[in-house]
Amino acid sequence: MLELKNPALYKNQCYINGIWENANNGALINVINPYNNALVGQAPDMTADECSKAIDAAHQAFLEWRNFPATDRAKVLKKWYKLQMQNLDDLAKILTSEQGKPFAEAKGEIRYGASFVEWFAEEAPRVYGDVIPGHGRDKRITVIKQAVGVVGAITPWNFPNAMITRKVAPALAAGCTLVIKPSELTPLSALALAELADQAGFPPGVLNIITTNDAPSIGKELTGNPKVKKLSFTGSTKVGKILLRQSADSIKKVSLELGGNAPFIVFEDADIDAAVEGAMASKFRNAGQTCVCANRVFVQEGVYEEFVSKLAKAITQLKLGDGMIQGTNIGPLIEPKALDFVEKIVEDARTKGAQILSGGKVAAPHQLVYEPTLISHPSTDMMLFREEIFGPVAPVFKFNTEEEVISLANDTQYGLASYFYGRDYARIWRVAEALEYGMVGINTGMISTTLAPFGGIKESGLGREGSKYGIEEFLNIKYMCWGGVE
Ligand code: SIN
Repeated sequence: MLELKNPALYKNQCYINGIWENANNGALINVINPYNNALVGQAPDMTADECSKAIDAAHQAFLEWRNFPATDRAKVLKKWYKLQMQNLDDLAKILTSEQGKPFAEAKGEIRYGASFVEWFAEEAPRVYGDVIPGHGRDKRITVIKQAVGVVGAITPWNFPNAMITRKVAPALAAGCTLVIKPSELTPLSALALAELADQAGFPPGVLNIITTNDAPSIGKELTGNPKVKKLSFTGSTKVGKILLRQSADSIKKVSLELGGNAPFIVFEDADIDAAVEGAMASKFRNAGQTCVCANRVFVQEGVYEEFVSKLAKAITQLKLGDGMIQGTNIGPLIEPKALDFVEKIVEDARTKGAQILSGGKVAAPHQLVYEPTLISHPSTDMMLFREEIFGPVAPVFKFNTEEEVISLANDTQYGLASYFYGRDYARIWRVAEALEYGMVGINTGMISTTLAPFGGIKESGLGREGSKYGIEEFLNIKYMCWGGVE
């Protein structure tokens, strides 16, 4: 069991209507540390009935919360932010234990997660309307923005903290209330956040957490229940499509942050050392398990050998193993299924003729740590060109012309993140405009920040999270037409 400075954060019950609850049938989910297979804790395995009860509570709370002055909502959010920062080490410890990412990275995630709470606390009082010139002498037009209502939030295991706060903070700032379903693999981070929300003083029902092993049933309830007005999901494109279809019957507002297949392009005029640094940061963050990780690296012919040899050298510096040991850079993959998939991708590349320059296997038998893998001379018929790898595997393709690499980069159904390195400013504009992606990193491999609108196009999603755009996803516009103003 986990030893924390603040043991109150170690929860094994769900938070519904301000009360900590077990599952009605007493069922539990075992939460397993992916590094050593140890039991980290347990969480209730709840059903759709309990989710429906949480939705009722959120609906009741919404009727009050939406009428709080925005400055009062901001005050509670700021308190929640402060509590998260005060409990940073404990939150990171819980995160590393259930997810596996290195402790330093987990601390980075807690700071990143909390930054959404701070930012949206400040945005709450800035939900401005509009006054528009009327269409007749006696007419006036005003526009106000109102909270959409109860939000269903379904969040992933790769960022057990930040993907919750990135949805919850703007929703609460706007005046919405929520029912959150975290991943069954990482529910403890979500429950710890709920404990801090309770301490911060959110009224009962404003924030509810349902943990479950039965994601499809809870997904059906959150998308089918007419009291839920908005669904916000981060996860796979496959599941996102199901949730979008299910939301159609009640025409819910939907935000989706889905899969990616990020190109990382290095032109001949790039600063190669900076490009290698960017590729390392983008590719190996969270052991390659992020939607914005570089998936396909494309390097122009003249600098291919130099880039590959420098990347190979940088990879040798990575330390693998237990995320709780200081200095670890690469932790385990989340579960055996994830390891199987990464192994399949590498095997496919090997049999189709790619060269595995380093890695290409698990670090130790019976473990989920996969060696950082560098693959040269891959081709477009390999799985790694089409599939989101979600592991520490870097395939490096060679290209000749700008036109060729744009066509390769865009040859995917995904459109989340993309990256390129180069110095020619005219080409920078051309390439940034030509990439069919929602986000473009130019001479950087790190694009995630509270201040920017995170999100994708094509089959990578709908809507934006973070920045001034993030709160709009939780607001409806109401237009009032005033007549008879003589
Ligand atoms: C994700 O992988 O879903 C999010 C990554 C990020 O916010 O940087």
